[in-house]
Amino acid sequence: MAKHRIISAEPENETEEHFNQSLRPTTLDDYVGQRKLLEKLSITLTAVKQRNEPMEHVLLHGPPGLGKTTLAHIIAKEMGTHLTVTSGPALVRPTDLVGTLTKLQSGDVLFVDEIHRLSAVVEEYLYPAMEDFKIDITLDSGLHAKNLTLPLKPFCLIGATTRAGLLSGPMRSRFGIVHNIEFYSDPDLLTLLRRSASLMDMDLNQNNATSGAEALKAISKRCRGTPRIANRLLRRVRDYSQVRADNRLALDVVHQALKLEGVDDLGLDELDRKYLNVLRDIYQGGPVGLEAIAATLGEDAGTLEDVVEPYLLQIGFLARTRKGRQLTPQAATHLGFTLPARHTQENDLFDTET
Ligand SMILES: Nc1ncnc2c1ncn2[C@@H]1O[C@H](COP(=O)(O)OP(=O)(O)O)[C@@H](O)[C@H]1O
Ligand SMILES: [Mg+2]
Repeated sequence: MAKHRIISAEPENETEEHFNQSLRPTTLDDYVGQRKLLEKLSITLTAVKQRNEPMEHVLLHGPPGLGKTTLAHIIAKEMGTHLTVTSGPALVRPTDLVGTLTKLQSGDVLFVDEIHRLSAVVEEYLYPAMEDFKIDITLDSGLHAKNLTLPLKPFCLIGATTRAGLLSGPMRSRFGIVHNIEFYSDPDLLTLLRRSASLMDMDLNQNNATSGAEALKAISKRCRGTPRIANRLLRRVRDYSQVRADNRLALDVVHQALKLEGVDDLGLDELDRKYLNVLRDIYQGGPVGLEAIAATLGEDAGTLEDVVEPYLLQIGFLARTRKGRQLTPQAATHLGFTLPARHTQENDLFDTET
C-alpha cells in the first residue's frame, strides 16, 4: 500500500531525483550541517591525500533523505577519483561484485547503498576486498575447480544504510569510520533552504525583506529535519506561489500550500497521523508491537520503522519500550487524548529498548 507521501524521505520519482541533483552540494564546504562528521572526514581526507593512500572505508547510517548519497559523491570529488554507485540488492551474485570491483581504479570510491541487504555470500567476498584489496574467486566447479586470487586496486568503500541494526558484526567492523547521520537542526535547514531557493532563482525579497525569510523558516520547521523533504516542500511552495499567489513568498502562502499537501505544523502527514491515531484509538496509547500497528494500517512494518518512527521518536512522540511502541504524554497532549493512568505509573517510557 505504498502511496505517495509528500513528506516521504524517499525520492518521489526520476524527475525529483534529477532536480535534487541540481540542488545537491558538490563540495564539503557546501554541505550544510553535520559538523562533527565533516570535521572527521576532512581530517581523514587531508591525511590520506598527503600519504597518497585511499580513503578509509566509511559507513553512514541514518534515515533516508539526510545526505548519505550526497556525501559519497563529495568524498569522491574531494579525493579527485571516480564514484561507482551500486546497492545491496543489485549485487546478487559474487560475480556481480567481481565485475564491479575489478573495474575500480586506484583511490576510487565504491558506494554501496542499502548495504544491509547484501547477501551473506556476497559479503564473504567483500571482506578480503575491503581488508587486503584482493578477491578470491573459484573457476569451474567440481574436480576442475581452481581457486584464484585477484589483486584489486586500493579503493574506498562507502556503505549507506537506514538499518544499522541489520548489518552483520563482521561487516560493520571493517569500516574505519562509522557515523550516524542525524536529523538536521532548524537553523541548518534554514541555511539549506536559502541555498536551494537561490539555486532555484526564487526572489525572497519580492514583497519585503522579512516575509521571504519567515516563509523559509516556516518550511524549515515542517520538513522533519530532512533535506530531501525541505527541498520538496520548497518546490511545492514555489508552485503554489506562482499559480495562486502572484509569486509571493510569505508565511500565509506556505501555510496554504502545505495545508493542501496535508502537512501539519509539525511536518506530520497523513501516514504519521494515521499511525498515531491507531496507537491512540485501537491500542489505548500502547504498548503494542510494531507488527500489530503495521497490520492495522495495512502498511509494511519495515516502512513504518524506516520512514515514520524515526521522526516520531526524535520529536518525543513515541517511545520504544521492551513491551512495544507507546505514545508519550507529549503526543497525547498533541492528539488531545488522555493516556490511561498505567502509563504514567510504570516506568515504561524510560525502559527503552536496547
Ligand atoms: N547536507 C546537505 N546540504 C545540502 N543539501 C543536502 C544535504 N544533504 C542532503 N541534501 C539534499 O537532499 C537530497 C537528498 O540527499 P541524499 O544524499 O540523496 O540522501 P540519502 O542518500 O541519505 O537518502 C540531495 O539531493 C540534496 O539536494
Ligand atoms: Mg541515498
